Amino acid sequence: TKAGESATGGKLVMVTNAEFPPYEFHEKNEIVGIDAEIAKAIADKLGMEIEIQDMAFDSLIPAVQTGKADFTAAGMTINEDRKKNVDFTDTYAKAAQVIIVKEGSDIVEPDNLEGKKIGVQTGTTGDIYAADIKDGDIKRYNKGMDAVMALTQDKIDAVVIDREPAKVFVKNNAGLKVLDKAFTEEEYAIAVKKGNTELLEKLNGAIKDLKDSGELQKIVDKYITA
Ligand code: ARG
Repeated sequence: TKAGESATGGKLVMVTNAEFPPYEFHEKNEIVGIDAEIAKAIADKLGMEIEIQDMAFDSLIPAVQTGKADFTAAGMTINEDRKKNVDFTDTYAKAAQVIIVKEGSDIVEPDNLEGKKIGVQTGTTGDIYAADIKDGDIKRYNKGMDAVMALTQDKIDAVVIDREPAKVFVKNNAGLKVLDKAFTEEEYAIAVKKGNTELLEKLNGAIKDLKDSGELQKIVDKYITA
């Protein structure tokens, strides 16, 4: 089955960018994480198969727009600009953009980013918001982890990225920390092709069931420990 016709058939094609733990990442040739499990749980509820494809973050919305995929679940933040191109489901997670720095950095709060070299993942809300930093020198990377690597090598001064991946990256790389004060508060949702109300309503119904039954929280708790 091809995406597009699949929404009415037996299979849903999901696209994501599996460089974003704990929401989506590779584990032994498989894409796992909160979004992958939510998508599988949704497909189960709808009695459909799911196929998950990995691609660059800034290709996700085009893939949905052109019908290459039925939806994207990618820790994607709902924002007004994106709403012009896709329709978002009800939100399934609260999120935030935070700042990662090296321990001992003179950057201790968002205001200190002025005039600094800031790493972001291309096309993310971190990229969009960092663009507003006065005299900021924005360095764009294909993967959030590449920005973090650049930070450890002192090529940049800070990384602006979503909180949960930030926590994972900092845990796995000595000498880094996440600043307490978040840069922005956001919400994640799944995106479908504009006008695909049939699929949107199915997804919203399944998301509601997963919330009401506590299944959603169980998936989150499996990947995020307080
Ligand atoms: N929440 C941010 C955004 O929507 C970053 C999402 C990045 N997701 C990913 N799977 N790489 O722009």
